[in-house]
Amino acid sequence: MAESISPDIHCEVTGGGEGIPLVLVHGFPLDSRMWLPQKEFLQGRRPVLLPDLPGFGRSPDPARSASIDGYASALKGELDRRDIGNVVLAGFSMGGYTALAFAEHYPERLAALVLANTRAAADSEEGRAARTQAMERVREADPVALAEETPAKLLCKRSLHERPELVRWVDHIVRTQRTSGVVGGLEAMRDRPDRTALLPHIKCPVLVVGGEMDPIVPAEEVREMAAAVPGGRLKFIAGSGHLSNLEQPEAFNSVVEEFLREADL
Ligand code: MLT
Repeated sequence: MAESISPDIHCEVTGGGEGIPLVLVHGFPLDSRMWLPQKEFLQGRRPVLLPDLPGFGRSPDPARSASIDGYASALKGELDRRDIGNVVLAGFSMGGYTALAFAEHYPERLAALVLANTRAAADSEEGRAARTQAMERVREADPVALAEETPAKLLCKRSLHERPELVRWVDHIVRTQRTSGVVGGLEAMRDRPDRTALLPHIKCPVLVVGGEMDPIVPAEEVREMAAAVPGGRLKFIAGSGHLSNLEQPEAFNSVVEEFLREADL
């Protein structure tokens, strides 16, 4: 059981209709606003929960140090508060790290899992050192320190050049995060455990989604992760960098919809 780090989080409930709720968990340094195209697409189709992880968006800071396990525990607490049993849990990148932690601690609550642009492995030593440096930069200059570089990291070249409104939207979400939440997120990602050994033990249907041109989670790693899950499905989103759900929303929505239909959910 993961320790609770946050008594309460902000979580919008939308969508409506029948069916098992879909929980969409955002990446870093973002919040639930990154799911806007999915929120619109899912209106009237199924209940959707859009949580902000502790310290991000409209959620308060965690009561103790941020951790990926603590984020998973905050999600579980939110489901308990709302008396929601099973869910389809979809996590993007840092949200995927959180979804895997949830799968480890609360497997009985999962009807299915969508792991988008994410990995099971922990950070390398070099990656951990870079997180610590980024924490220092953000403490000095708040999330603006990351805003300058984030769109170029998350979006492919084509999106960067041809979709100024998307670049502005991503930039805006980053700039409106709080220093404490962003520093906490970096610490949580830096210290997260390797969950590769969990993959063969996941019992629910799993969809792994990769971005064709994702420099943060390369295609080979995405393939390996999908292959390690029994019956894991794999889809790549063409014409996308890391932020596949925002860069190619129609393709992203349709692979998730097809997966849920095939899994009879
Ligand atoms: C994210 O999109 O959540 C981050 O890029 C993940 C990471 O930095 O490991």
